Amino acid sequence: MSGKNWDRVPIDAQSIDAPLSLAAVFLVVTVNADKAALAKVASVLGGLDDLVKNVGFRDLSGRLSCIAGIGADLWNRLSPGRRPRELKPFAPVKGPVHSAPSTAGDLLFHIRAERSDMCFEFERILLDSLGGSITVVDEVSGFRYFDARDLLGFVDGTANPTGLDLPAAALVGDEDADFAGGSYVVVQKYLHDMRAWAKTPTHVQEEIIGRTKIDNIEIDDDDKPRKSHKSLATIEDDAGNEYDILRDNMPFGRPGQNEYGTYFIGYSRYLWVIEKMLQRMYVGEPAGAYDRLLDFSTPHTGTTFFAPTRPALQDLVQQSSAAG
Ligand code: HEM
Repeated sequence: MSGKNWDRVPIDAQSIDAPLSLAAVFLVVTVNADKAALAKVASVLGGLDDLVKNVGFRDLSGRLSCIAGIGADLWNRLSPGRRPRELKPFAPVKGPVHSAPSTAGDLLFHIRAERSDMCFEFERILLDSLGGSITVVDEVSGFRYFDARDLLGFVDGTANPTGLDLPAAALVGDEDADFAGGSYVVVQKYLHDMRAWAKTPTHVQEEIIGRTKIDNIEIDDDDKPRKSHKSLATIEDDAGNEYDILRDNMPFGRPGQNEYGTYFIGYSRYLWVIEKMLQRMYVGEPAGAYDRLLDFSTPHTGTTFFAPTRPALQDLVQQSSAAG
């Protein structure tokens, strides 16, 4: 992002635009129902920035960053009556063949670093401080895989917005001034059918994704009856304006368990943009012509959060401790 120098580390908590990294942990938890649990969580969220410094300062070149996202139910518990305009639980999507489930999650921690041991250390201390106030619902350790490829072999992340386009696409603006600078975050954990994918000829795989496999060049399929993943995920309004999101997907897996996945994470200024992408992928455009990537990739989770700016997060937890 303009004006930022990422050699200046540690990185502030809640930096949506922190650099893409070699390692990441995606941790989703629910907060237990009692008031003490809520107070504990509020105090840990209040100390998140210090925790990033405590671990991040041990190796500045590790560029540790952490973003906490807050789900709609937890937001209501922390701050009833004042919340980001579009924030609501993930809406399940039902297509003719494939569906996207909505799964539980009050908090998302998106932890990134150049070293997986830094992500691990941060997560360990974070969970230790949260103690019995939360229940872990999902935990995924992702890694950067050659040329930033997903496990299907395609370079993933190329069309991400850069420079000034990044905040314009990913960060809330004046349309919701109280929450400006924050971001809607949607996550989905996908598992791949690698055998079926391997049997699919490369030119068909390329038509499905919308890019060539080796060179990562876009394929024009505007006139094709069956659109690629890339085209279905391209959102335009009636005036022809394109709406991007910021993705930081990571591969993960355990070959010994035949587990091969992509952890999808999208940050967006507007939640409706990601919802529209999902509609086009699952229902299809035109209806029925769904994203064939889904014939090989199944979502096992689906959760929506809002990641406030660091000062907005501080306000939120202070408000909550004042109220509690
Ligand atoms: C199995 C899960 C997924 C995989 C493996 C995957 C992979 C890819 C790949 C390889 C590309 C092309 C290169 C690039 O621009 O990054 C791409 C593009 C894109 N994907 Fe996905 N994706 C997945 C799920 C999703 C989901 C769930 C969404 C949105 C809800 C999404 C949104 C996008 C967008 C916006 C683009 C860029 C389109 C453009 O402007 O060219 N992807 N994805």
